[in-house]
Amino acid sequence: MALMITRSRILLKCTGKLRLFSSNAIPKSININEVDYETNEHWTNVTPSIVSLTDRSLHVHESHPVSILREMIEQKLNSTDKAFNIYNNFKPVVSVYDNFDSLGFPEDHPGRSKSDTYYVNDKHLLRTHTSAHEMKCFKDIKSDQSSSNSGRSGFLISADVYRRDEIDRTHYPAFHQMEGARIWKREKALNSNKEPQHIVQLRKDIKKLGDQLEKEETKLIVEDDKSLEGNPKQDYMTELEVELCQQHLKRSVELVVSEVFNQKITSMKNSNVADIPKELKVRWIKAYFPWTAPSWEIEVWWQGDWLEVCGCGLVREQVLLNSGFEKDSTIGWAFGLGLDRIAMLLFEVPDIRLFWTMDERFHTQFIKGKINPFVPYSKYPGTLRDVSFWLANDDNAIEVHENDVMEIVRNEGGDLVESVKLIDEFTSSKSGKKSLCYRINYQSMDRNVTNEEINEIQEKVRDELVNKYNVELR
Ligand code: DAH
Repeated sequence: MALMITRSRILLKCTGKLRLFSSNAIPKSININEVDYETNEHWTNVTPSIVSLTDRSLHVHESHPVSILREMIEQKLNSTDKAFNIYNNFKPVVSVYDNFDSLGFPEDHPGRSKSDTYYVNDKHLLRTHTSAHEMKCFKDIKSDQSSSNSGRSGFLISADVYRRDEIDRTHYPAFHQMEGARIWKREKALNSNKEPQHIVQLRKDIKKLGDQLEKEETKLIVEDDKSLEGNPKQDYMTELEVELCQQHLKRSVELVVSEVFNQKITSMKNSNVADIPKELKVRWIKAYFPWTAPSWEIEVWWQGDWLEVCGCGLVREQVLLNSGFEKDSTIGWAFGLGLDRIAMLLFEVPDIRLFWTMDERFHTQFIKGKINPFVPYSKYPGTLRDVSFWLANDDNAIEVHENDVMEIVRNEGGDLVESVKLIDEFTSSKSGKKSLCYRINYQSMDRNVTNEEINEIQEKVRDELVNKYNVELR
């Protein structure tokens, strides 16, 4: 899920001009959330089906699993000292500056590429992460401080985010994240026998988190890689500040994990499930993000797998300076947490597409504040179709990302596509041409599909592959 982790690229070579929109011309402008954006033929790659997701705001529908989880985390994090401002209504179109530049992404970072990101035009895109709003929210804290309105010292932002990606039960082009951050104003010690005020405050804040963690019924077993080797601290922070800030960050995230999984365990106990976990194992791993240093990820051991939950770190001073804080004045941390995978596991939702269904039989099963397992209303059979083709291998070939193939299938098949997998790949020793075969599983969550309608979609997928990428169908 981490933006920084890009998928292995299977680059298809194709001849002809790479057209990111369908063979139809791109409209002059696109309306998203009631704003008209001019398009740009080299950049625009959002499609109507993606635009239609941008006004759903599932994370604020009270009885939606993603919203229930969001509220649970907000309540827990604000239960000790109400430190966090809450933002749930940011719109998904943001500037390239906010999504990447303000956070120090290098020009050549793969996250910026058109194969990974939905661009509205050359200056706007559908946010790929909630970190895009960090600067605005840091500025709000700063202006509260300046107006001597003591205000809060942190924020939580939840929102839908968008990435071009593969298609399977856990990947959807839109999903949800929660961003969190907390800062402390640095104070100079008045006399050398006394610790500066922010250090005293950090110690108190850490103690409060520790006390809360102690109260949880199923305890966390934490494996923590604390060495800063290859994960260096920033020069402007002292070693003690790094140590305390990091402890506060880690205990805060652990509190979230502990709350969420303890609630799941309680709900399992109430429904007499066998195999209830007796302990919760988590591990901290070093990571890299352009706007934090040092950085980590946390994983949770759940039903036999390590689940990647959240990336985080100590905010780079440049981000704080971009937000208007004075040099050396402030230290803090930030995290970004993926909500959908956790919600799938809490509510036992087997396919991420269900979150987006309009079917009442899904939505009436959940209520605000409660975790209960989803009861499948019916299982409709899937139907497989393969598409095989040769790629051109001449010198004019242009590289195309696998996500472009995914996008064609998604455009034609919409939510009827359960998964798309590359099942065969070889290069002919005679012609030197490469052959690929993708297997598409068409399966509706809400109804039976007919062979005729699937054949029609499959034909369009084949046509589009030829139209756009000039492949030779086999
Ligand atoms: N934005 C990152 C992602 O989407 C997650 C993240 C990592 C957010 C570290 C943070 C952070 O605020 O400090 O993968």
